[in-house]
Amino acid sequence: MTASPAGGRGRFAGAGPEDRVVVARAPAKVNAHLAVGPLRPDGFHELQTVYLAVSLFDTVTVQDGDGITLTVSGEGGGATTGAGRVPTDRTNLVWRAADLLAEHAGVPADAAIEISKSIPAAAGLAGGSADAAAALVALDALWGTHASRADLIELAAQLGSDVPFSLLGGVALGTGRGEQLTPVLARARSHWVLGIAREGLSTPAVYAELDRLRAGGQVPDGAVLGSPEPVIAALRSGPTGALAAALANDLQAPALSLRSDLRRALRVATDAGAAAALVSGSGPTIAALANDEGAAVRLAAALAGEGIFRTVRAVHGPVPGARLVG
Ligand code: C5P
Repeated sequence: MTASPAGGRGRFAGAGPEDRVVVARAPAKVNAHLAVGPLRPDGFHELQTVYLAVSLFDTVTVQDGDGITLTVSGEGGGATTGAGRVPTDRTNLVWRAADLLAEHAGVPADAAIEISKSIPAAAGLAGGSADAAAALVALDALWGTHASRADLIELAAQLGSDVPFSLLGGVALGTGRGEQLTPVLARARSHWVLGIAREGLSTPAVYAELDRLRAGGQVPDGAVLGSPEPVIAALRSGPTGALAAALANDLQAPALSLRSDLRRALRVATDAGAAAALVSGSGPTIAALANDEGAAVRLAAALAGEGIFRTVRAVHGPVPGARLVG
């Protein structure tokens, strides 16, 4: 879809130092705990969430350019959760990340940017946030802006609620609208199977549905938030059973209300041996927790065989946040 680094301009072609290629990647996330408070005056909801970065990565490649150009390639072209639905204009979060960093650093916003997607779009996995985080790291290196990690995190928060976590990775408690992070030292590795639906879900639509269900008294009003501590304790030291018992997501009810097919997907996952299954973030991805790596591989095969997901991925977490590659 775009010029490859070997296409004559990059370091692979033996070009000079002024003609560089920089590659960064950033992970998908699941919310092992997602408690949503009431709607704030600014249109966001107060959150308490436990983010876990998992081993599914998007890659962003940048090189010198004239202005910003953006291309997108990768899995699922054409599907509404695939690369085919990702915009390649200024509305792409990566483009906004480039403008923001250039403005912050006082440099011209010149770069040819290629996003290579493995994380499905509109899936509740923070794929767009991962792309923005990887772009900030890659462009900081390309432009030699030497932004501090704290600067990048501040810019990330202006781009979206999940972007700071895509930079940080690992495990973190998110508060505010999700952008205020407290890192959690987590030793326990957990194994998950992600079941990705054919049709995406819009995050604002899922939050709006939560507000609607709350106004009708169909779900608790969010005045009292569930504690993230049991999930944090389980991610610190296991066992899987403790994590399975503690998983919680206030956006699951509205996601199921908008997409009743997800109920069956959750049941299929637990019937196929998942320790627990929940909607990831605002959905529609189902995150199924497995007891160990072998169980995750078996669970992934079983879920793929059901034919209800567009794609199925076995992943583990925690993994690091946005990093340069090579
Ligand atoms: O921050 P981000 O751009 O990811 O948010 C997308 C939308 O999701 C917001 O415009 C808002 O409708 C909803 N949202 C929210 N409360 C949050 C995060 C997101 O209502 N804490």
